[in-house]
Amino acid sequence: MSEANFIYLSQEDAVRCGAGDVAATVADTERTTLLAYRGKAIEAPTATLFWGVPAEKLKNFVGYPSKKRANIHAGYLDDDGVMKVALKNIPSNPDNPLNGKGPRASGLVTILDPETGYPVALMDAMVISCMRTGALGAIGVKHLRRPGSRSLGLIGVGPINQAAIACTAEVMPELEVAYVYDLNTERAKAFAAEFSRKLHIDVRAVDSARAAVADADVVIPATNVQTIDDAYIAPDWMKKGSLLVDLSIWDATFETLARADGYVMNSAISMERKTMTPSVMVDRGLAKEEEIIDLGKVIAGETAGRRGDGDVIVYFARGMAIYDVMCGYRVYENALKNGVGKTLSLWQSAFWS
Ligand SMILES: NC(=O)c1ccc[n+]([C@@H]2O[C@H](COP(=O)([O-])OP(=O)(O)OC[C@H]3O[C@@H](n4cnc5c(N)ncnc54)[C@H](O)[C@@H]3O)[C@@H](O)[C@H]2O)c1
Repeated sequence: MSEANFIYLSQEDAVRCGAGDVAATVADTERTTLLAYRGKAIEAPTATLFWGVPAEKLKNFVGYPSKKRANIHAGYLDDDGVMKVALKNIPSNPDNPLNGKGPRASGLVTILDPETGYPVALMDAMVISCMRTGALGAIGVKHLRRPGSRSLGLIGVGPINQAAIACTAEVMPELEVAYVYDLNTERAKAFAAEFSRKLHIDVRAVDSARAAVADADVVIPATNVQTIDDAYIAPDWMKKGSLLVDLSIWDATFETLARADGYVMNSAISMERKTMTPSVMVDRGLAKEEEIIDLGKVIAGETAGRRGDGDVIVYFARGMAIYDVMCGYRVYENALKNGVGKTLSLWQSAFWS
C-alpha cells in the first residue's frame, strides 16, 4: 500500500500562512455562520475532559467544575461543494499565565482528507482558535450594534480579547474609544498601550468592570469566570442600545441576561451545548428558544437582529469546530501553495491493510 504523509505547521508556520490574518478570519467566520444556517455544516458534540476534581463533581455541572480542562471538537463543512473536515483539541488552564507557564491554552488542529479520513495537516491551533473567537464576536458587532456606536468595553485582556479588539476594529470603522479592565492592572495597561498604537484608537485602562461597561456601546467580556455564581455584570450597568457579546459565558448575571430586549446566537447548533448559554437560559425559563435569533439568518438578510435603537441585545457567541475547520483549511491551502511546513510520515508502508 502507498505511504501516508501529513504536513506539520508550528505556530510560526501557521502565522506565516495567515492564521493571524484579521480580515480573512472575519470573512471565514461570517461565511461559516451562513453555511451553518443553510444546513451545510456538521458539528460533533464537544467532549470536555475536566480533571483535578472528584469525578462525582462533574455530573450535570453547569459551568466549569475545574480549571484544568481539555475540549475535543470536530466539524465538517460543505463549502460550495468542497468538503472540509477537521478536528481540534484545546487543553487549558487559566492559571498558566499567573504561574509563569505561558498562555492559558494550547492546541492542535488536524485537517483530514475527506475521503480516507487520514490526516493531511497538523497545525498549531492557538492563533487560529483565538482569532476565530475574536472574529465570532466581531461578526455579531458587525450585524447587531446600534447605528452610531463608537465605544467598546472589554473585560479581560488575554489572547481572546486581543483578537476581539483587532477583529472588532476591522468591522467597526467608527470605533473611537475602548475602555478596558482586567483584574491584572499591569496587563490591562500594556494592552491599552499596545492597541492604542496598533489600531489608532483611544484605548484606556479603567479601574473597574463597571467603568468599562458604563459608556460602552459594545461590551465584550473574555475572562476566566467559572460559574454563574461569580457573574458580576449587573442589569443597570448596560447602556441603552448597547450590545453584550457573551464570549466567555458567566460574566453577566442571569438577571442581566433575562432583562435584555433581544437575543441572538451565532448558530442554532450551539443550543446542543446544554451546560452553556444560550441553552441554560431556555432550560431555566429565562428566554424562549424561538426568540433567540440565529445570526446566520441576519447575515442572510432574512431578518433583523436588532429591532429598536434603544434595545439591549445579548449575542451568545459559542465557538465551534466548524470555524476552526474553515480557517485551518485556509492556512493549510496557503502552506501547500507556499511550501511551508515539515512533511512527516504517518506510515511508509501500512502495518495493516
Ligand atoms: N466563546 C468562545 O468561543 C470562546 C473560545 C475560546 C475561549 N473562550 C473563553 O475566553 C476566555 C478568555 O480566554 P483567554 O485565553 O483570553 O484567557 P486568559 O486567561 O489569557 O485571560 C483572561 C483575563 O481575564 C482576566 N480576568 C479573569 N477574571 C476577571 C474578572 N472577573 N474581571 C476582570 N478580569 C478578569 C484575567 O486576569 C486574565 O487577564 C476564557 O474564559 C475562555 O474559555 C471563549
